[in-house]
Amino acid sequence: MVIESAGIVGAGLMGSGIAQICAVHGIRVSLYDSDFGAADRAVSAIERRLEREVQRSRMTADTASRAVERLSTCYAIEELSAADLVIEAIVEDLAIKRSLFRQLGEAAPPATILASNTSSLPLSDLAAASGRPDRVIGLHFFNPPYALRLVEVVPSESTSEETLSAALAFCDALDRVTVRVKDAPGFVVNRLLVPYIFDAIHLVDGGVGTAHDVDQACTTGLGHAMGPIATADLIGLDTLLLISESMFEEFGEPRFKAPTSLRRLVSLGHLGRKSGRGYFQYATPPAAVTAGD
Ligand code: NAI
Repeated sequence: MVIESAGIVGAGLMGSGIAQICAVHGIRVSLYDSDFGAADRAVSAIERRLEREVQRSRMTADTASRAVERLSTCYAIEELSAADLVIEAIVEDLAIKRSLFRQLGEAAPPATILASNTSSLPLSDLAAASGRPDRVIGLHFFNPPYALRLVEVVPSESTSEETLSAALAFCDALDRVTVRVKDAPGFVVNRLLVPYIFDAIHLVDGGVGTAHDVDQACTTGLGHAMGPIATADLIGLDTLLLISESMFEEFGEPRFKAPTSLRRLVSLGHLGRKSGRGYFQYATPPAAVTAGD
């Protein structure tokens, strides 16, 4: 099965970025979000990012305008059902994702592949909820998807070989680098990243170094492109908290337990770059993350 069209549910940080790479690589893509207006805002953000690529001579004006022509928005899940593949990129909450997979399973034709961009939740649960477990797979893109090429491809025990092949071919068509990983909480990257970020936050909270200094130590001393505290702000502190809660519930290990300062910032609505303030302060809430620029 060749994937020529995609539907994306959830037009936030990740949904918007995934839609962008689909459109740039020749896939027709439609975005849906339960927050009416979010899908249109995502399309505007994509247009701005593509315009910037053209200004910087990293993309031709023709490629950008063709990409924009492949983008559309819709206002009901059912409208996505014509797509070959639907990618879910909504809030990291198992009950809400399960309910969406149930709905998608009822709305989409039997051949449609349903993928989740979950960072930590079990694909097998989403597969069971969908009523088509052989056609469900995890496609874990990284933030921002148009700058980071990795996709963790996560088949559940019930994913068919045909679905896996189609998903790998799709990632290839998007010029992604894939690693195939087991359906285990946090897969590979978040299993390593979450405790690392939390240790960095503990260093800041304990006064060992400021957020700036901890990040500087990791970028300059370890050669990382971005420090752990800035990475937390980039992910979104609300999303990071939800990811860590599901991993803590699964593993019961203190290294996955969210620091108090993280919980406090989330309660205050300081969600990182997307809200204009997290562990760092940002001049204006960016409409779209620009890491990699
Ligand atoms: P976000 O908060 O930026 O966007 C989520 C969007 O989903 C929002 O626009 C919200 O209105 C919408 N939404 C929530 N419930 C919905 C529903 N039932 N139906 C339709 N739309 C709904 O979140 P973000 O960061 O884009 O994360 C989305 C998913 O991607 C999560 O599963 C997260 O774990 C995963 N992810 C996040 C990364 C990150 O760095 N933020 C990286 C890789 C994966």
